[in-house]
Amino acid sequence: MIIRSKLSLTLFLLCTLSLTVTETSASVFNNVSCSSNKTFTPNSTFNTNLNTLLSYLSSNVTNNVRFFNATAGKDSNAVYGLYMCRGDVPFALCRECVGFATLTIASSCPTSKEAVIWYNECLLRYSYRLIFSKMEERPRHKINIPLGDPLVLHSNGFYTALGSIFDELPHKAALALAESNNGYAVKQENTSASVTLYGLAQCTPDLAAGDCIRCVTDAAAEFVKSCCGGSIGASVLFPSCIVRYETYPFYQHSGTSAPTMIKRGGNIGTEVIVIVVVLVVVLVMLFGFGYCFIRIKARKKRKAGDREKFGPEHTVLESLEFDLVTIEAATNNFSEDRRIGKGGYGEVYKGILPNREEVAVKRLSTNSKQGAEEFKNEVLLIAKLQHKNLVRLVGFCQEDREKILIYEYVPNKSLDHFLFDSQKHRQLTWSERFKIIKGIARGILYLHEDSRLKIIHRDIKPSNVLLDNGINPKISDFGMARMVATDQIQGCTNRVVGTYGYMSPEYAMHGQFSEKSDVFSFGVMVLEIISGKKNSCYFESCRVDDLLSYAWNNWRDESSFQLLDPTLLESYVPNEVEKCMQIGLLCVQENPDDRPTMGTIVSYLSNPSLEMPFPLEPAFFMHGRMRRHSAEHESSSGYSTNRSSLSSVNKMSTTAFFPR
Ligand SMILES: *[C@@H]1O[C@H](CO)[C@@H](O)[C@H](O)[C@H]1NC(C)=O
Ligand SMILES: *[C@@H]1O[C@H](CO)[C@@H](O)[C@H](O)[C@H]1NC(C)=O
Ligand SMILES: *[C@@H]1O[C@H](CO)[C@@H](O)[C@H](O)[C@H]1NC(C)=O
Ligand SMILES: *[C@@H]1O[C@H](CO)[C@@H](O)[C@H](O)[C@H]1NC(C)=O
Ligand SMILES: *[C@@H]1O[C@H](CO)[C@@H](O)[C@H](O)[C@H]1NC(C)=O
Ligand SMILES: *[C@@H]1O[C@H](CO)[C@@H](O)[C@H](O)[C@H]1NC(C)=O
Repeated sequence: MIIRSKLSLTLFLLCTLSLTVTETSASVFNNVSCSSNKTFTPNSTFNTNLNTLLSYLSSNVTNNVRFFNATAGKDSNAVYGLYMCRGDVPFALCRECVGFATLTIASSCPTSKEAVIWYNECLLRYSYRLIFSKMEERPRHKINIPLGDPLVLHSNGFYTALGSIFDELPHKAALALAESNNGYAVKQENTSASVTLYGLAQCTPDLAAGDCIRCVTDAAAEFVKSCCGGSIGASVLFPSCIVRYETYPFYQHSGTSAPTMIKRGGNIGTEVIVIVVVLVVVLVMLFGFGYCFIRIKARKKRKAGDREKFGPEHTVLESLEFDLVTIEAATNNFSEDRRIGKGGYGEVYKGILPNREEVAVKRLSTNSKQGAEEFKNEVLLIAKLQHKNLVRLVGFCQEDREKILIYEYVPNKSLDHFLFDSQKHRQLTWSERFKIIKGIARGILYLHEDSRLKIIHRDIKPSNVLLDNGINPKISDFGMARMVATDQIQGCTNRVVGTYGYMSPEYAMHGQFSEKSDVFSFGVMVLEIISGKKNSCYFESCRVDDLLSYAWNNWRDESSFQLLDPTLLESYVPNEVEKCMQIGLLCVQENPDDRPTMGTIVSYLSNPSLEMPFPLEPAFFMHGRMRRHSAEHESSSGYSTNRSSLSSVNKMSTTAFFPR
């Protein structure tokens, strides 16, 4: 029984497939418009660039994208171009259409510096001007199919239906632009005379949503102007958008678009193959539906559970939650070329959400045993931390075994990329470095005191400080220690989360942490920002003059500026440098009680006249003792004290300390 019904379903699908294929397997040319205003001479640079551009367009359509824009050449000889396939057109037809379009536009407009060509299935245009993201309504082309009697049409509710379709389509197209980046929308409406009207609108996806609405509205207004002759079908084609209506379903309903063309061969062999292929496809689809169904059900149940557990906050949680499918699409399935970093808590990818927002997607290492509810609690907590010097949490995703955090994308990489790069450290002037120090201090202060919860970062270091385009620092990875290691007792942990070189001695050796451990890490970082040198206390190369002792010696000998990064010699402000150095040294004192709080540090930084105490010798200065302590720590926590293995632990980020 089941097999029989599947077989008939298969045959039905096969029929519809071949029907759609035969119906749409040719591109229908509409019109081409060549500008006669601006022309180029054959064999000129512009001509070469134009040919290059057209080849970019026709070659990129093989990547199965329905919209693509490209630029060829530079300056006065640059050529800008784009193509767009109609949103429902199968890729095979899209390829064919764009192929025809490039050939036809080149032969129809042999010397025009600007042209546009329209087919039913695609449009293609190029220009010597920058045409991207600009809404353009000229040149235009209209097609009317005047077959009806206007009066009859009117009395039959035809215009009412038409009006209702094109009232909605501008907004629907703009929404599709924002949500799925294709700007394509369709709508059908019954007239009272049992005629169904089918409408379509599409904007080129480079437009802003508002421009899309304007373009579609203006194009549809042409129906009213020119369709009074009683057209039962019409198209208006602009360079930036197209609209069309008919009394038959001229577009394919979403989901039924045939992914590939199937040639109908004459012999039985191909038909059998086609049946087998379709059968397999149907089976896969059935499985897929079943799987989706189960997933959706599980999700609904989970959401209902959230409503109970999180009370009024479940709406916040819902607004933050993303589907795994969305995240996979945004990161190109976590592809290697999207990977922008590997932090202590997992890999970080650059993603582009459907609304075109750029985000950093942090895929947490999934060895944490933390439950779903705890994870969501932490997400809620992090989402509430909002400060201009903290990286903003955009959302999260928790599905299957994945735990993912989505952050705003900060374009300029992390501070260590600048500080410790032999070339790039020249780019940071003293005033920028001072701004960075102040920004970081404010961000940590917010975590410690100003947010409603006390958050100890526990891994303050330059690679956790991101810089935006204005070189404003943004702290990342806050709240992570709570999220990953949850079974700690407040103030004491058997699991050290942090990075050697930045950890305070009491934390590194005894696992004790407090705000003052963050203050210590901040101090190390301040000295690094001043000197442009890493606190290089690797066990292999821990020389007597490591950064902290070097800074201390210079301070004591009143030769502070020896520490200064030589590239700053032209831009530094002596009393600011001195103040930062003193703050840095105050922060790295051995006794946590001697170290200032972040609040005090922020007031030192913002108030030039405030008196500061003199720092004591920094914690790591006495190397003999440090070595002994660290050896105890390492062996007690099960790591070997072998030197080479220690150095690799040092360089590694914190992942090594996570529970397995
Ligand atoms: C394009 O449309 C215009 C009217 O808008 C018409 O005059 C012209 O003949 C058409 N060109 C082609 C190549 O069909
Ligand atoms: C030619 O340029 C004039 C003004 O410079 C403009 O009004 C006209 O629309 C242009 N014609 C075409 C076909 O682009
Ligand atoms: C342009 O180049 C083609 C072949 O490269 C040549 O046949 C043609 O004569 C050239 N035309 C001009 C105007 O130089
Ligand atoms: C696509 O276009 C780019 C330029 O935008 C070009 O470098 C590339 O070769 C083209 N072809 C393919 C197949 O991607
Ligand atoms: C494509 O268009 C966008 C604007 O929508 C522009 O920023 C981008 O540079 C264009 N790409 C190329 C290759 O010209
Ligand atoms: C239009 O009419 C058909 C039957 O003729 C009906 O199945 C369909 O639901 C109607 N659609 C709308 C939007 O009213």
